[in-house]
Amino acid sequence: MRIDIISIFPELFGPTLSGSMLGIAERKGIVEFHVHDLRDWAEGKHRTTDDYSFGGGPGMVMKPEPFFRAHAEILAQDLRPATTILMCPQGELLKQPLVEELATCSRLVIFVGRYEGYDDRIRTLADREVSIGDYVLTGGELPAMVLTDAVTRLLPGVLGHDASATEESFSWGLLEYPHFTRPASFEGLDVPDVLLSGDHARIAAWRRTEAIRRTAMRRPDLFETADLNDEEREFARSLLEDLKRSDDR
Ligand SMILES: C[S@@+](CC[C@H](N)C(=O)[O-])C[C@H]1O[C@@H](n2cnc3c(N)ncnc32)[C@H](O)[C@@H]1O
Repeated sequence: MRIDIISIFPELFGPTLSGSMLGIAERKGIVEFHVHDLRDWAEGKHRTTDDYSFGGGPGMVMKPEPFFRAHAEILAQDLRPATTILMCPQGELLKQPLVEELATCSRLVIFVGRYEGYDDRIRTLADREVSIGDYVLTGGELPAMVLTDAVTRLLPGVLGHDASATEESFSWGLLEYPHFTRPASFEGLDVPDVLLSGDHARIAAWRRTEAIRRTAMRRPDLFETADLNDEEREFARSLLEDLKRSDDR
């Protein structure tokens, strides 16, 4: 996959994209990151990328021309079909199903906003608008890094163990089960015996049960779409009833 990011602060991306798993993924040739300075497509001595808002009001607005020029030139650099994403708090929320969908693309081009946001005509270039949550940041650099990280780790060959991505929170519609490592006993806190048993079927059953329990306690809304069999759904329902009873007390 190739990921192009267009920002007025390209220097903010360095350590995130070159370190750890993302850096290894790029060195292995699984992904290519191209971070572009939007100012390279701006005009004038000051390479201005923002201007006043027509109609008045506080804050500056990102000008359309640099994004239009940058987009055309960057698309032409690689013939693979690209999905253009505009980072924006008004966009669709970034959740794991969307991450999984984007991980199947061969190319992503990500627009990063600043100030009050974009001249609305810039939206016509985007296939999707994506938000990382219902809060407003000063710029889209962190959201673009969040999206890039979430997508890259799903690309085949990036994670050490394929099951890491399929058994974790959200990917199977539930939160993930609890993990433990050595020591088996620490300050009076013991790892559940079943995890030390070596019995893979019992361990898998315990993990599924604990994933349901954890989801009931923290994110019961996920049960609406989680893939549960009848027995599991009944278990989830009884957990939620118990939780409600203890809340009412
Ligand atoms: C200060 S915000 C602009 C907010 C805009 N005035 C509004 O009310 O929707 C500047 C830029 O940060 C980025 N941004 C801020 N919060 C974001 C979020 N939750 N998700 C994605 N991008 C975000 C976007 O690129 C946005 O254009």
